[in-house]
Amino acid sequence: MQLYAIDDLVAALGELGPVLQPVRVANALRGVRIDERTLRPYLTWAPTRYTRNLVIRSDAFELIAICWDGGARSPIHDHADSECAFVLQRGSITCENYRAALRDRDAGYDLQRTSARALAEGEIDMRSGHLSIHRVGAYDGRAVTLHVYAKPIDACRAFEEDGSFRIVASHYDSLPAAR
Ligand SMILES: [Fe+2]
Repeated sequence: MQLYAIDDLVAALGELGPVLQPVRVANALRGVRIDERTLRPYLTWAPTRYTRNLVIRSDAFELIAICWDGGARSPIHDHADSECAFVLQRGSITCENYRAALRDRDAGYDLQRTSARALAEGEIDMRSGHLSIHRVGAYDGRAVTLHVYAKPIDACRAFEEDGSFRIVASHYDSLPAAR
C-alpha cells in the first residue's frame, strides 16, 4: 500500500487543470491512502455529527477532510452542479443512493431509495450532476473521508424523506489557516 502526504494529493489535483474531469478525479482518489501524520492537522471532531475541514480551495475545486463521529450521517443531499468524489481513509462508511422525480417545483420531489453500499478503506464514491442524490453515514464508529468538489459547492439542497427540501449553505468547521 502506497502512503502519500496530503500535499501530494493537493498537487495531483492541481495538475488536473481549471476544469476537473470526473474520471481523472476518480483516478486521482481511488486507492489513495494519506499518511495520517500529514492529515492530522485537518482532523477535528464533534460529538454525534460530522465536521468539514478545508484542506485547499481554488476556483476549480475544493478538497475537504470530513470527520464522522460514530453514528453521524449527512442529510439526503444533492451536489448543486458540481462533480463530487470522495475516498474513504479510515473506518467504514455507508452510501445510500436516491432517485428523485420532480413532483412540484415548489413542494419537492418524489424520492426513492434505490441502493446502499458500504465502502472499504481506499474505495471511492462519485456523484455527478444536480440530481445525483445520496446520504452518507458512519454507522460503525468514527470515519474519515476526503472529498473533492469541482467546482466548490457553496450551497446544495437537503431533502427530507418526504421529498421536501431546503437550500443549505456550505460551511467549514476548520480552515487551513486556523490549524
Ligand atoms: Fe455527497
